[in-house]
Amino acid sequence: MLYDDLFVNLERARWNLSRDIDWEAIEPDKLTPGWIFDVREVCLTELSALYATEMFLRDFYADIDFCSFISVWFYEEMKHHLVLRKYLERVGEVIEEAELPRLRLSFDEGPAIETLTMHFCGEQRLAHWYTAFSANAPEPVLRQIFKVLAADELRHGAAYAKYLRKAVRNKPEVLPAILRMALWMIRTTNDNPKHPTTVTEPSVVSLLEDPHYIRRMLNMYLPGRDHEAPVQRRILALMSELAGTKLSSVRDLLTQIRALEETAAVAV
Ligand SMILES: [Fe+2]
Ligand SMILES: [Fe+2]
Repeated sequence: MLYDDLFVNLERARWNLSRDIDWEAIEPDKLTPGWIFDVREVCLTELSALYATEMFLRDFYADIDFCSFISVWFYEEMKHHLVLRKYLERVGEVIEEAELPRLRLSFDEGPAIETLTMHFCGEQRLAHWYTAFSANAPEPVLRQIFKVLAADELRHGAAYAKYLRKAVRNKPEVLPAILRMALWMIRTTNDNPKHPTTVTEPSVVSLLEDPHYIRRMLNMYLPGRDHEAPVQRRILALMSELAGTKLSSVRDLLTQIRALEETAAVAV
């Protein structure tokens, strides 16, 4: 089971909530109301790990390895929610427990392999966003928090990649579905940013006070169209590996999908 090594590796890399965040160094005067509001929205978005876990345990029912890993992922994502909530409390912004059930939702059932691919891409993208928030946040401890969250999201992305490799090894016929979902996820814009928390109906983010907060933050801290290049590179690197051929661009990915579909049609 991949879970065994992932457990050890993630445990080794793990940061400590009480010791590794410099809570005493927070300088509330450096924050603006706008930043406090946005951190609040990010904090509530991280709570979606709860709804996603419910979905994973349901849709990956017989995959004991993956469900075991989800226990670690759930713990770490809830820690993201907690670290941001504690930070907000320190600067005088309290999220009331009573307001949380309103945000609760259940995801529709979907093909497990597509969900896995979407989450792999989503973790890469979120790491990219958090890195930008870390670079732009006006308060040093908030910068530190976004930096450690970005590193966690990248590690999660690497774990999802391991499960995608395992899926293709066990069942090569899932490859086209993975490539198609990766292509769909790569095609994103700041005005319609694709992440597991934005793409369902309703989505996690659509239930927040400002459903457009991600769009607004991206246009502020990651303006322009080309900033996605590192995310695309990481997604294409895994897709190349899974497909066994070098895919350097979105066009290459599309060509590969068409080639696989033609082969499948001929086989039928
Ligand atoms: Fe997270
Ligand atoms: Fe994550």
